[in-house]
Amino acid sequence: MIQKIDIDDLQAGMHICGLKNRSGASSFFMNNTLIKNAEEVASLKKKGFTAAYINIESVKTRPSARTEPGGGVAAGSEGPRTVELDNILREAPAQDADAKPAEPVEAQTFTLKDPLDIKDEVGFREEIKEARGIRDEAESTVTTIMHDVRMGKSLVKERMEKTVDNIVRSIFRNRDAITSLANLKRYDAYTFTHCVNVSILSIALGRHLGLRREDLFKLGVGAILHDIGKMLIPEGLLNKPGAYNETELSLMKQHALLSADFLAAARFIALASIHVAGEHHERYDGSGYPAGLAGEKIHFFARIAGIADVYDAMTSNRIYQKAIMPTDTLKFMYTRRKIHFGPELVEKFIQCMGIYPIGSLVELSSGDIGLIKSVNRSDLIHPMVSVVLDRHKRPCRRPLDIDLATENKRRIIKAVDPEIYAVTVESINP
Ligand SMILES: [Fe+2]
Repeated sequence: MIQKIDIDDLQAGMHICGLKNRSGASSFFMNNTLIKNAEEVASLKKKGFTAAYINIESVKTRPSARTEPGGGVAAGSEGPRTVELDNILREAPAQDADAKPAEPVEAQTFTLKDPLDIKDEVGFREEIKEARGIRDEAESTVTTIMHDVRMGKSLVKERMEKTVDNIVRSIFRNRDAITSLANLKRYDAYTFTHCVNVSILSIALGRHLGLRREDLFKLGVGAILHDIGKMLIPEGLLNKPGAYNETELSLMKQHALLSADFLAAARFIALASIHVAGEHHERYDGSGYPAGLAGEKIHFFARIAGIADVYDAMTSNRIYQKAIMPTDTLKFMYTRRKIHFGPELVEKFIQCMGIYPIGSLVELSSGDIGLIKSVNRSDLIHPMVSVVLDRHKRPCRRPLDIDLATENKRRIIKAVDPEIYAVTVESINP
């Protein structure tokens, strides 16, 4: 549990996991740091820090300087190291300047599984109806949360946690059902749908990597609330049509830290979830914001959510951008894998989603149009398709399922724009 306190209330013996400076910028770090004496508090004040984030849980449960791993270091990994305050002070800029984040010295180690070893509990058909209800409920929850925050209300714990828990459960039962629904976009409610989709896609990728259930929950909470800080930005600016000028852009970029701050203030959100919100726009090569963190210094969960965020944004219709097809989006992300998210994680995301994600349309060598029904994760170019239009592009009376892994007459020749044919995963799974 994270609590923000005034720097004047900071005392020796407390563990801090973040700092805020006079200009309002916050920085969070992986490990809690023990404040050993009054001199350290004085040094922080001298450096211009005005508030600290303390981890109440870790103070209660960990009497030593060893600290909570900042979000789910998996069982079997080495315990976290303590960040010496000296490091933070050395990193911190002079008084009144923007604070740089402290080095997260701990390597983020997670025990990951081979994705091919992860088995779904039930089939797609069995889960899709339940998944649809969970997704709709999630959208309603996010809409309420966003409106509440805009009105100055605080975050309601129970409903938000239940929503994320339901998504995690659905993905454990079947990875593809609720993920396929994330490919259905709602132009009129982009902000809310996007938050839900980012959470679904992040949890799906996390599950694909074999993360533990409790870590997936933390990841999902951070992802569903990653843009909550946008609700603290004037609506006029948020919905401004056209390009932002430089000042507006820098204001917009504050949303990541505003999100992290808001979650920290809620006091019941795990540190890992706060990292997701604060770092989802950081990029692997250090070109992101707000802190310009690079590589492994970006929290692993924030890198996962960053991938989901970009994928969903690119595949959605926006005021200023037409949706890019999932396959083309994945291709783009692959070409940028070393710059944006790290090659390995992007490759895993593609393996999770499929080169042709579920719900996308493809043209077969026969001229038929097929809808991707399921991904063959050991053979990505040969998914299961449901032929919905014949070679003359006329609807089939009964869609024909073909497993391209065993079919040798037909193969996929290209992805096609679903808007042209108005076929979605919903139309074959009513
Ligand atoms: Fe964002």
